[in-house]
Amino acid sequence: MIRVAELIERKRNGEELSGEEIAELVLGYTRGNVPDYQMAAWCMAVYFKGLSGRETHALTDAMIRSGETLDLGAALGRRVVDKHSTGGVGDKTSLALVPIVAACGVPFGKMSGRGLGHTGGTLDKLESIPGYRVELTIEEFVAQVRDVGLAIIGQTGDLVPADKKLYALRDVTATVDIVPLIASSIMSKKLAAGADAIVLDVKVGDGAFMKTLDDARILAEQMVDLGQRAGREVVCLLTDMDQPLGHAVGNALEVREVLATLRGHGPEDFTELVLDACARLLALSDLDIDVDEGRRRSQRAVADGSALAAYERWIRAQGGDPDVSALPTAPVVREVTAPRGGVVTRLGALQVGLAALELGAGRRTKDDAVDHAVGIVCHAKRGQTVARGHLLADVHARDEESASAAVAGVLSAYELGDEPPRAHGILLDVVP
Ligand code: URA
Repeated sequence: MIRVAELIERKRNGEELSGEEIAELVLGYTRGNVPDYQMAAWCMAVYFKGLSGRETHALTDAMIRSGETLDLGAALGRRVVDKHSTGGVGDKTSLALVPIVAACGVPFGKMSGRGLGHTGGTLDKLESIPGYRVELTIEEFVAQVRDVGLAIIGQTGDLVPADKKLYALRDVTATVDIVPLIASSIMSKKLAAGADAIVLDVKVGDGAFMKTLDDARILAEQMVDLGQRAGREVVCLLTDMDQPLGHAVGNALEVREVLATLRGHGPEDFTELVLDACARLLALSDLDIDVDEGRRRSQRAVADGSALAAYERWIRAQGGDPDVSALPTAPVVREVTAPRGGVVTRLGALQVGLAALELGAGRRTKDDAVDHAVGIVCHAKRGQTVARGHLLADVHARDEESASAAVAGVLSAYELGDEPPRAHGILLDVVP
């Protein structure tokens, strides 16, 4: 039997713990034998002293062993691919990517999470579609991927229960932004869900966990290492989250933008990210093609309507109405206009995310209700030249009071200057 106080002390002193010690700690915590206060103290010791590669691997492995695992590949008789984002503002990538990949002939079953704080979650976006069921049994999930080609459901409680408990604890003890804990949290869920190859979208910037490219690279390298130790292929895309992705931020607004993108009329940065990630997923699949061919096929699936058809098939299969007119709309829409002429030098993702959160598009605590209709559409993005009075953004609100607060918040997210900012695309780097 381990002495938890001793493990906390040794980690606090910077010692490396053995794999057995970490496994006992994590499994003891999941079973309720280790109390929250000791686990919180251990996480804080990790914040200051870090974890070695061996310890991070042991932690990930123990988290996977805390629950059930899924072998989607065996159930489908195919090589299975998966995708995950570390979370950002306006990040609706999975909703467009899954139908494109499925339309290219690669079955795609994905488990997603809800949003917390200023970042949105795929499940909340999907729940803005009337009738959409996020909770399927594992049998229903596998059957839908086999018969329809695609599905997105909520993470089942049986998969990595240790992460569910640990993440909730980290969220309230200032121990979320710790690279090895983020890496093991994300990778334990992806590995337990059984994919052979995984594309990870690591967001970088003021709206993301990782504020700098260097930190994002460290996280990416740790996740690639964890994947390789488990015999999986992992590619990390490091992508810009200094401004919101695309134009729309807020659940139903983002689903509308996904539909426009599947029709070939999406925002440039969002379309670029979706096509790039699709191309890499197809290259990692069993189609035996390279990234360039993956990109050509992804573009074709959008152009010939097969990606949109896959989207409609998928949403109907999960009980939803895929028509854009079924999405909820907010009663109050207010414009945010440029107070002066100039070029947009900055559009703070965090500030836009917080303004959307205040409107009710997100949740502060995990029990908050989400208003699916509200949000913000940022028409002007970084690098765009605007005249005084030009439309910068629309605020979609439940009432006038929340609209006024959001207009002020969005306005403060914009910086207008005379010199254009340094230009770069959405993709900042790829690891490995
Ligand atoms: N996303 C996760 O799933 N886990 C973390 O720790 C951080 C982001």
